[in-house]
Amino acid sequence: MLSGARCCCVSSFLVLVWWVTACFGGDPYVFFDWTLSYITTSPLGVNQKVIAINGQFPGPTLNVTTNWNVVVNVKNELDEPVLLTWNGIQNRKNSWQDGVLGTNCPIPAGWNWTYQFQVKDQIGSFFYFPSLDFQRAAGGYGGIIINNRDVIPLPFAMPDNDITIFISDWYTKSHKKIRKDVENGKDLGVPDGILINGFGPYRYDTTSVPGGIAYQTINVEPGKTYRLRVHNVGISTSLNFRIQNHNLLLVETEGSYTVQQNYTNMDIHVGQSYSFLVTMDQNASSDYYIVASSRFLNSSGWDKATGVAILHYTNSLGPASGPLPDLPNEFDAYFSMNQARSIRLNVSAGAARPNPQGSFKYGDITVTEVYVLLNRPPELINGKWRTTLNGISYLPPSTPLKLAQQFNILGVYKLDFPYRPMNRPPKVDTSLINGTFKGFIEIIFQNNDTAVQSYHMDGYAFFVVGMDFGVWTENSRGAYNKWDGVARSTTQVFPGAWTAILVYLDNDGIWNLRTENLDSWYLGQEVYVSVVNPETDKSEPSVPDNSIYCGLLSSLQRDQGHRFMFSSAPSVSSASRTVLSALVIAFFGYFTR
Ligand SMILES: *[C@@H]1O[C@H](CO)[C@@H](O)[C@H](O)[C@H]1NC(C)=O
Ligand SMILES: *[C@@H]1O[C@H](CO)[C@@H](O)[C@H](O)[C@H]1NC(C)=O
Ligand SMILES: *[C@@H]1O[C@H](CO)[C@@H](O)[C@H](O)[C@H]1NC(C)=O
Ligand SMILES: *[C@@H]1O[C@H](CO)[C@@H](O)[C@H](O)[C@H]1NC(C)=O
Ligand SMILES: *[C@@H]1O[C@H](CO)[C@@H](O)[C@H](O)[C@H]1NC(C)=O
Ligand SMILES: *[C@@H]1O[C@H](CO)[C@@H](O)[C@H](O)[C@H]1NC(C)=O
Ligand SMILES: *[C@@H]1O[C@H](CO)[C@@H](O)[C@H](O)[C@H]1NC(C)=O
Ligand SMILES: *[C@@H]1O[C@H](CO)[C@@H](O)[C@H](O)[C@H]1NC(C)=O
Repeated sequence: MLSGARCCCVSSFLVLVWWVTACFGGDPYVFFDWTLSYITTSPLGVNQKVIAINGQFPGPTLNVTTNWNVVVNVKNELDEPVLLTWNGIQNRKNSWQDGVLGTNCPIPAGWNWTYQFQVKDQIGSFFYFPSLDFQRAAGGYGGIIINNRDVIPLPFAMPDNDITIFISDWYTKSHKKIRKDVENGKDLGVPDGILINGFGPYRYDTTSVPGGIAYQTINVEPGKTYRLRVHNVGISTSLNFRIQNHNLLLVETEGSYTVQQNYTNMDIHVGQSYSFLVTMDQNASSDYYIVASSRFLNSSGWDKATGVAILHYTNSLGPASGPLPDLPNEFDAYFSMNQARSIRLNVSAGAARPNPQGSFKYGDITVTEVYVLLNRPPELINGKWRTTLNGISYLPPSTPLKLAQQFNILGVYKLDFPYRPMNRPPKVDTSLINGTFKGFIEIIFQNNDTAVQSYHMDGYAFFVVGMDFGVWTENSRGAYNKWDGVARSTTQVFPGAWTAILVYLDNDGIWNLRTENLDSWYLGQEVYVSVVNPETDKSEPSVPDNSIYCGLLSSLQRDQGHRFMFSSAPSVSSASRTVLSALVIAFFGYFTR
């Protein structure tokens, strides 16, 4: 159901125009109007201000199909600036729509801004979230489903239904308080609870769960098979997901079909998304527990940090009972790493296109550049708590990188990010990775922190080719998976361990590479990768008509109230522009006669 969406064949003059575009061979447009505002709710029994979209928390699901054009008019009714980012959406050659500080000016409180992007050549499960200032800790997230086009078969039987599940750590303090604490070097501590779809835990145990907390119930029919899209949208906690007595058949992660395998539980790290097929093959003598519990936290907080929802068969005879299904050994990172290594690409399955996912033989391609990115736990730099990659803590300039590049404003950023950790004092700087267009780069994340970090790269899916404990060396390449490493956009790196990825830099733009753990991201653990196509440096569309200007370019910003009706119009091909102009002339001609 496309709640809040107007599909392409309804009234409204503007919409009619796009429908015309669509009917002359273009890809369809879908339109959404989203208002971000605070609502008061109490997921853990304590009243809190939560970020809702159109009054909903979690927000509405963006349910679209490969190659559709998505137009989302975001109205900011919060008390601070906002940007939504589309985790895993590649925005091919269009980083203008990425919704992070390096590409967009924030949408001021009280303003609106319209995103427009095409989900080109993608399928799978993703999510969106507010990217600034710890706002994700207050909600504002929702799912993205990209269905395959009818001409491309799924590599499994069509499931009977599709269910999105968000799991997340949660604190009862506000995101503003959390970010103050983090600035002051205070550890996040054990979360106050784990939410499932914005709800607190079912009272599976009267001592560890207080009464009066609303929980999530997922209703299913016996014998049917459901596709569960599970996203860890949390702040910083890795979560183990499992369903009592039910297998999770892993089929997809972040836009790639995997080798299909059953798991009894899956570690899902911050920012990661998975699809599981779950068949309701148990008897209905009772309901069953759905559990998301913290991993690698100190055991004292374990019972507190457990999310429990209910799987309810329509013919169920009673409540869920018995102990929660077993969790793998709390501190067994080896188990978790082996599980991660077992997730592989189904090389013979087609994804957004009919050719098999394995037809891009990444293992045979010569690597052009190697980056070893070392992080460290938070440290004081010039009296402030900061996190770094290769000794550089990212400083966002007041003028977004993309705008500075477009307007040739020098001195906003440098393209001198070091290839290796540097033997020099850490610093705060705006230093970017100078990516070579169509280069094939290898990035090794070396985690020197004590917590699992998840790294995410915007604009791309990368191949996860290896991970191990200890320090990466050239010899570590011997153990790389050169054949069916999974392509995804978010990978975990265990403490004291490394993860290696390969990325083909064919998407021009300026792209954020970050840790998804909000505490570490907020303190500067991110970098941007600039990818410029030297032949046609105009291959990326120039500034969108509706761009917001800020920083050194704020004088270009016009008042929001006086915008021409089509100023936020999606960019269209010249052919359809002609159709558009003709219609505009006809339209206004009609009224001026
Ligand atoms: C998504 O939309 C398609 C139609 O385009 C519909 O068949 C499907 O049921 C929808 N999925 C969800 C989860 O709403
Ligand atoms: C703000 O919303 C209005 C419609 O409510 C729209 O016409 C306008 O283009 C939007 N502004 C931007 C900058 O997207
Ligand atoms: C997964 O488990 C289900 C039972 O829940 C079984 O029917 C199916 O054959 C298993 N599939 C694989 C690929 O192991
Ligand atoms: C139903 O399944 C549960 C869990 O597998 C089992 O303990 C119970 O004995 C079963 N009941 C019947 C009537 O088959
Ligand atoms: C766990 O507890 C130990 C000792 O109390 C402490 O050193 C460590 O930092 C804690 N780890 C986490 C993740 O809280
Ligand atoms: C891989 O995908 C194909 C469809 O192309 C499917 O038939 C096959 O079962 C999948 N293999 C595994 C191991 O998941
Ligand atoms: C960035 O890399 C390109 C090649 O991809 C090179 O031509 C250019 O000089 C580099 N810029 C800097 C500042 O190093
Ligand atoms: C971090 O680096 C230091 C110095 O090289 C090393 O002693 C320590 O074991 C490392 N810690 C982790 C978690 O990698």
